[in-house]
Amino acid sequence: MHLLAAWILLLAAGSVFTDVSPCDQWGACSQQCSQTSLGYTCSCYHGYILDPDGWTCKPEGTERPYILYTLRHEIRLVDLDGQASVALDRLRNTVSLDYYDKNRTIFWSDVMEDKIYRGVMDANHITDIQEVVSVGLIRPEGIAVDWIVENIYWVDSNQRQIEVATMQGKLRSTLVAGKIKQPRAIAVDPSAGLLFWTDWEKNNPRIESCSMSGHGRAVVVNITLMDSEGAWPNGLTLDYDLRRVYWVDARSDTISTVRYDGSDYRVVLRNHRLLSHPFAIAVFGSNVYWTDWRTNSLMEANKFNGSSVRVVQRTYAQPFDLKVFHSKRQAQMKNPCGENNGGCSHLCLLGFNGTADCTCPYFHVLLSDRKTCALNSTFLLYARHYEIRGLDLNNTDFDAMPTMSSPHVEIPKAMDIDPVSGMYYWTDSRHGTIKRARIIDGTDIETVVNTDLDNPSGLAVDYVSGNMYFSTTREGVGSIWVSRLDGRQRLKVVYDRKPITSLAIHPNKGKIFWTEDGTNAQVVFVANMDGSNVQQFVPDSLTHVDSAFKLYSKNYT
Ligand SMILES: *[C@@H]1O[C@H](CO)[C@@H](O)[C@H](O)[C@H]1NC(C)=O
Ligand SMILES: *[C@@H]1O[C@H](CO)[C@@H](O)[C@H](O)[C@H]1NC(C)=O
Ligand SMILES: *[C@@H]1O[C@H](CO)[C@@H](O)[C@H](O)[C@H]1NC(C)=O
Ligand SMILES: *[C@@H]1O[C@H](CO)[C@@H](O)[C@H](O)[C@H]1NC(C)=O
Ligand SMILES: *[C@@H]1O[C@H](CO)[C@@H](O)[C@H](O)[C@H]1NC(C)=O
Ligand SMILES: *[C@@H]1O[C@H](CO)[C@@H](O)[C@H](O)[C@H]1NC(C)=O
Repeated sequence: MHLLAAWILLLAAGSVFTDVSPCDQWGACSQQCSQTSLGYTCSCYHGYILDPDGWTCKPEGTERPYILYTLRHEIRLVDLDGQASVALDRLRNTVSLDYYDKNRTIFWSDVMEDKIYRGVMDANHITDIQEVVSVGLIRPEGIAVDWIVENIYWVDSNQRQIEVATMQGKLRSTLVAGKIKQPRAIAVDPSAGLLFWTDWEKNNPRIESCSMSGHGRAVVVNITLMDSEGAWPNGLTLDYDLRRVYWVDARSDTISTVRYDGSDYRVVLRNHRLLSHPFAIAVFGSNVYWTDWRTNSLMEANKFNGSSVRVVQRTYAQPFDLKVFHSKRQAQMKNPCGENNGGCSHLCLLGFNGTADCTCPYFHVLLSDRKTCALNSTFLLYARHYEIRGLDLNNTDFDAMPTMSSPHVEIPKAMDIDPVSGMYYWTDSRHGTIKRARIIDGTDIETVVNTDLDNPSGLAVDYVSGNMYFSTTREGVGSIWVSRLDGRQRLKVVYDRKPITSLAIHPNKGKIFWTEDGTNAQVVFVANMDGSNVQQFVPDSLTHVDSAFKLYSKNYT
C-alpha cells in the first residue's frame, strides 16, 4: 500500500525519466527516504512515527506541540487545532520570544521597556517573572535560546550588534558588531554551533551566519541576488533536521529556504493571499508556521512546497514573533561546556560542530591560553544625549560595556570613573542629578545626588580619598562642591566663580583644576582640594573642549 502510494507520488513528480534518484527529489519524504526497486518509501527519525499518508512524520508520545506568539501587549499560546489562551498580558511592547523547554522557561524582549524578561510556563500561564537584562538595551528585536549551554543571544537593531549572556543575564558580551545595519531576526542551532541573523540593510539585505561563539562570520544569502523583489527579511528560523534556514520576506511576501551554507535555494510559497505581510516564521515537523500583519493571523503550510495553507488562528491585533513549543525542537546533545565550564574562566560558548570556545565578558580579554579572561581596563567612555557608551579601543566596532541609556541618562554633562569600586559617575543636567552604575554590567544604578544641581558641568572622582568634586552654576555664579561618593557630607569648597565649564582633579598632588566661561579660554584655575589657594595659569597649548563631549580614557584596575 505504501509502495503504491510512493510510486504514484513519484509519477506525479515527473522524475521517472530523469537521472535524479527519487530520494533526491525536494520533499520526497518529510524525513528519511529509501529507494526501492519500485520507487521509494519514507521513514522517520527516532522518536517520530509515520502517518498513514506514508509521508508525514509525527512525534511519538502524547506531548502536543503548541504555538507561542506575541501580540505586543500579550503572549498567547494556541495548539494546532486553534485552542488558544493568554499566557501573559499587560505587556508594553513585546516583539520577540523564545523558550527553554527543559525548564519550561520563556524569554521575551520588550522594545518599549528595553528589557529582556524570563518567566516559567505553568499550566498555560507565565509566572515567576524576572528581568534578565535590564540595562544597555535600546531595541532588542530578536532573541534566541541556546538550550544546551543555557545562554541567550539577542540582536539590538539600534545598537547594531548581537550580544550573548547566560540565561540569568550574567557575563554579557558583544558577539558580533560592525557591518551590521538593521538586524531583525536571530536563530541558533546548537548541534551545528551556528548562529544566523537577518539584516534589512537597504543596499544589501542579507542573511549572515557565524559560530555561536562569533567566529567564521559569512554571508549565507544576499537576498536581492536570489529574489530581485525581496528586501525585508523579517523572520528567520532553522530546520534542525534538514539543516536549512527558512525565512520570510515582507517585501516580496515569500517564504524561502536554503541549506545552512546558502546552497540549494528554494521558494516555498509566494503570491498567496494569506502571505501578505509576514513577520515571523517557525518550523515544526513537516510544516512552516508564520505570523502575518495584513491578515492578522497565524498560518501553517507544507514546508517543502507550500501546499495545504491553513489559518491556525486569527488574531485581534498584529501578531509578532512565534515559536512552536515542543521538546522535539530542542534535542539534547553532549554539552561541551558541561564539564568544568569547558575549561573557561568566564563564558563558555558553543563553537562549530560540538566544540566549545571560551569568551570574555565586557572589560576582559582572552589570554593566549584561549581559556582565561583577564581584566583589560583600557576603554573610552563617552556620552551624548540619552546615552553613555564605552568603546573597546582595540576594536572600535565593539562596545566595551553595556550602553547606559534613557531614562537613566538624559543630558549627561560630565563623567568620571572610580577604579576602586568599579563604578562610573555622571551628572545629568536635565534633572540636576549625579548618578552612578557598575562599569562591568551597568547594574546597581543609583542616584547619589538628587537635589536639582544647576548646570552640573564638571565631575571628578578622588579615588584616593573616596570623595567626588562637582561644579554647579547658578544665576551665572559658579561653585565647586565636594562630597563622599554616595553624595553625603556635601560641602562647597570654591565660591563666587564665573560659570564653570570643566573640572578635573589630581588626587595624588591634591589639586583641583577647572575652566570658566567668560574668561580667556586659555586660562586654567587651580586650587588645593579644600578650595584654598586659588591660582590661575596658562598652559602652553590647551584646546577648548566641550565638556559634554569630553572623552575620558582612564586606567581601571
Ligand atoms: C534549569 O533547571 C535546573 C534544575 O532545576 C537548574 O539547576 C538550572 O539552574 C535551571 N536553569 C536555568 C537557566 O534556570
Ligand atoms: C554577497 O554580496 C557581497 C557584496 O555585496 C559579496 O561580497 C558576497 O560574496 C556575496 N555573498 C553571497 C553568498 O552571495
Ligand atoms: C506538496 O507535498 C505534499 C507532500 O509530499 C503532497 O501531498 C502534495 O501533493 C504536494 N503539493 C503540490 C502542489 O505539489
Ligand atoms: C561541521 O560539520 C558539518 C557536517 O559534518 C561539515 O559540513 C562542516 O564543514 C563542519 N564545520 C566546521 C567548521 O568544521
Ligand atoms: C589592553 O588593551 C589595550 C588597548 O587595546 C592594549 O594596548 C593592551 O595591550 C591590552 N592589555 C592586555 C593585558 O591585553
Ligand atoms: C585586538 O584585536 C585583534 C583583532 O581584532 C585581536 O586579534 C586581539 O586579540 C585584540 N587584542 C586585545 C588585547 O584585545
